[in-house]
Amino acid sequence: MSRNARRAGPRLRLPKELLTALEKLEGEPLDAGPAVRRIAAGVTRLNHGLTRARGGFGGYLRDPELRAAYRTYYLCTNAPKLWPVLDRLEARGLLPAGGGRALELGCGPGTGVAGLALWAAAHGQQWTLRATDVLREAAAGAEELMRALGVPVTTGVLDLAAPMKVEGRWDLVLCMNVLNELDARHDARLLDDLRGLLSPDGLWVAIEPASSAESRRVLALRDRAVAAGWQVVAPCPNALACPALAAADGWCHGEWHFERPPFVRAVDRETGLLREVLKATWFVLAPPGAQIPPVLGPDAKGTLARVTTARNDAKGRSDVEVCIDGALRRLELQTRDRTPENADFFDLSRHDLAHLEGPGVASGERRLGADDRVERVEEST
Ligand SMILES: C[S@@+](CC[C@H](N)C(=O)[O-])C[C@H]1O[C@@H](n2cnc3c(N)ncnc32)[C@H](O)[C@@H]1O
Repeated sequence: MSRNARRAGPRLRLPKELLTALEKLEGEPLDAGPAVRRIAAGVTRLNHGLTRARGGFGGYLRDPELRAAYRTYYLCTNAPKLWPVLDRLEARGLLPAGGGRALELGCGPGTGVAGLALWAAAHGQQWTLRATDVLREAAAGAEELMRALGVPVTTGVLDLAAPMKVEGRWDLVLCMNVLNELDARHDARLLDDLRGLLSPDGLWVAIEPASSAESRRVLALRDRAVAAGWQVVAPCPNALACPALAAADGWCHGEWHFERPPFVRAVDRETGLLREVLKATWFVLAPPGAQIPPVLGPDAKGTLARVTTARNDAKGRSDVEVCIDGALRRLELQTRDRTPENADFFDLSRHDLAHLEGPGVASGERRLGADDRVERVEEST
């Protein structure tokens, strides 16, 4: 693999427990011919409805064929995106020790609670889980999946488009692939409600589609939260307005390698989809006033930058776009200026976090030099 093809973060793979639980629910091996054809037919319809014919596609989880396709293929390709996000929060000491209380909004088949439960089991943690959706059928499906996984959950019907009344405070509120479906006229009230749902150190985790329109919709919600004083815990280097939105066609996403289980490979072959890489526009926010320790210590010099494109390697130089101090900036380093202190530049990939320091960084110039330091920040342990 050329270094340019490296992707930030771990290679994601599904634990056996999830596939076993899904096979129990489907009543047959997921990679057997009839199951693959059935799932592929549902995935084809879902893919069309979710990407091209969104209007009127709202109640798709009521349809048993679509629900089965969603809880197998989409759940298996959405849930893993939560893990690198949780790994970062854990590495920064931002999750309650041993586990806490998590509420999922727009849970569909239980993607977030199942993903969290599997992550928690691998980390020896126990979480109290509640899964909610506007559709009763979806909440019931989440309960069924969690039963198959042997993990307790409570479920309920909850509409993000109406004032939310939920008992108790939550350490994590999870929204996966639901905020982009919500009309922006609900945003101000939604942010107020979320604030009321979170415990004082609680975090709001949003993991949404990486496609341009959906990504922009969710980044606009993020900006609205930032303007209201919410803090950006990850992935942005600071809590400023997102510069991707300044361009008419800009958006931002992260991506992770995915080790597809055999049934996902087979469904990909049938449908022409390809989930070798999982992508998401995502963020973790803390409500105004929360105490979030910064990534860089108080004595650190320089600044943090988030890489927003794949690195481009050319003869004698490499360049990447980064998000830095609330702006997008192209940075270049020539190989003749390579030093041990800036060599990480030649290993940057999309969505890496880099600690930059030096005269070229400070000048705002495109070209960094031998006097600049570039350090890739390891975000999870
Ligand atoms: C694309 S699915 C995502 C399901 C799951 N979170 C995932 O990531 O796999 C969107 C889910 O959001 C739910 N949803 C849509 N609008 C909603 C609303 N206003 N309030 C709560 N849930 C909603 C849908 O019923 C559906 O279950």
